[in-house]
Amino acid sequence: MASTAPDPAVELLRRVADMKLLPEAAIRVRDIANDPDASTTDLADAAGLDPMLSARVLRMANSSVFNRGTPVTSLRRAVSVLGFARTRNLALGMAMVAIGDRKLKYRSRLWAHTTSVAAATAQLARFVKDVDPQTAFLGGLLHDLGVQVLLALAPDDELGLLARWPDGDPRLLKGERDRFGFDHARVGGLVADQYGLPSVVADAIRLHHQIRVHPGRLVMPGARLAAAVALAERLVQLTERGMPAPNVAGTVSMDPLAKPLGVSKASLQVAAEVFEEEAKALQSMLD
Ligand SMILES: [Fe+2]
Ligand SMILES: [Fe+2]
Repeated sequence: MASTAPDPAVELLRRVADMKLLPEAAIRVRDIANDPDASTTDLADAAGLDPMLSARVLRMANSSVFNRGTPVTSLRRAVSVLGFARTRNLALGMAMVAIGDRKLKYRSRLWAHTTSVAAATAQLARFVKDVDPQTAFLGGLLHDLGVQVLLALAPDDELGLLARWPDGDPRLLKGERDRFGFDHARVGGLVADQYGLPSVVADAIRLHHQIRVHPGRLVMPGARLAAAVALAERLVQLTERGMPAPNVAGTVSMDPLAKPLGVSKASLQVAAEVFEEEAKALQSMLD
């Protein structure tokens, strides 16, 4: 009789559910935001349950990515300025970036990477049709959520793989599949679905490496966001290697994903010039 092997992804999701990766407050924010009868006060009170989470939502509501107007000083005001859906997404996003072991050395590197990619993706999204900058920001911030989850589940194994290959190297993804049965992109997408993030963000997380192999899928909104994340990641990597902004823009504009997204060399140069400052502000916010 043939035995059916359990799907490793199903097993993983069970383990992730057992780990209770997200604070209670983030789950309540999500549930209240989905309740048609809930008020702004209900949502602010739910976020207020967790002081760290509310501080982050408040600081994010005041960051230049989201707010260029009057300073927001209370959670209730933050909810009414940002709106229900955005507060929910921010609270979940902020809670998710905190997943994992704070002591892990790799974590600060990952934060530096994801905040840079978030800032660069949000900048690029200003020039990309059908990609909303705030959703783009969340997609960039959480694109390597699967790495965080794998680091939380099996730190030694995932650290060992990351020490050999950088994010995006096909050998890293293959190494993860060989070791865990899935790569970080798939895990991240599953966990994003499980916690009720917008499907566009979950799809972008799932596709952020695959989109380079199958750029033909660019018609789906999640795929467009995945392509923007992939392009932003390239822009960040070249900048980190010390390449000046005009050269970064020139190189990334030749990327096969740039044309279908409609991103020009001029917009790439703007993104390359400003993302670092925003990323630094975000890093100080998340520490
Ligand atoms: Fe990445
Ligand atoms: Fe990745």
